[in-house]
Amino acid sequence: MKKIILALDVFGLKESKNLIEQAKDFVDIFKVGPILFLKCGREIIDFINSINKKVFLDLKFHDIPATVRRSVESARDLGVYSLTVHSCGGSEMLTAAVSVKDRPKIWAVTVLTSAVSSKEEVLERALLAKSCGADGVIASPLESAAIKNKCGADFEAITPGIRLKETKDDQKRTATPQEALKNGADFLVIGRPVLESPNPAQTLKEISDSLEQK
Ligand code: C5P
Repeated sequence: MKKIILALDVFGLKESKNLIEQAKDFVDIFKVGPILFLKCGREIIDFINSINKKVFLDLKFHDIPATVRRSVESARDLGVYSLTVHSCGGSEMLTAAVSVKDRPKIWAVTVLTSAVSSKEEVLERALLAKSCGADGVIASPLESAAIKNKCGADFEAITPGIRLKETKDDQKRTATPQEALKNGADFLVIGRPVLESPNPAQTLKEISDSLEQK
């Protein structure tokens, strides 16, 4: 599977379909978060599945265990490939999420990449998620090597906070795509560097070529 996950952080069906069209040679998994989900959740998920691509539903569930379990059931019924829960929800909530039959992959958010955090805190959350049966975690590209080391090579590390050059936005713990891959990330979640590019397809091609030359 291709390493780049494109974050479809746009407002509409037309805009997201246009991006998917430009990205489909370089991306197998598209991330649908609240911005798009609240506008056209089912339609965009059905569309992505209809072209044989996968949906990563990033709604970061954090609620009482019974509600999270039923939310995972609803996401499964929508046909998503993976989804996020927040590790802050604790072990009972995480265990409820993973208990769902035929569920999507569960990736637990450790600490948002827009926050400053210590590696210890991220590792503690990753170990908790692993012990509860999650398939992997969302963490910054600066932490993936340590996560693999502690939780094992099969425990997936998905890394947002990818930047092609230094920027002054809300992301704090960042790395370039090549650095992220070198640090062991399984998937790189990329949003604004592509969405704000004058030519998203070209930017994705450049990133994807650079990953192959690692
Ligand atoms: O635009 P940018 O490349 O910063 O996009 C990163 C995406 O990853 C956003 O959709 C954001 O919601 C998501 N994300 C994140 N940090 C996490 C989990 C998800 O930035 N820990």
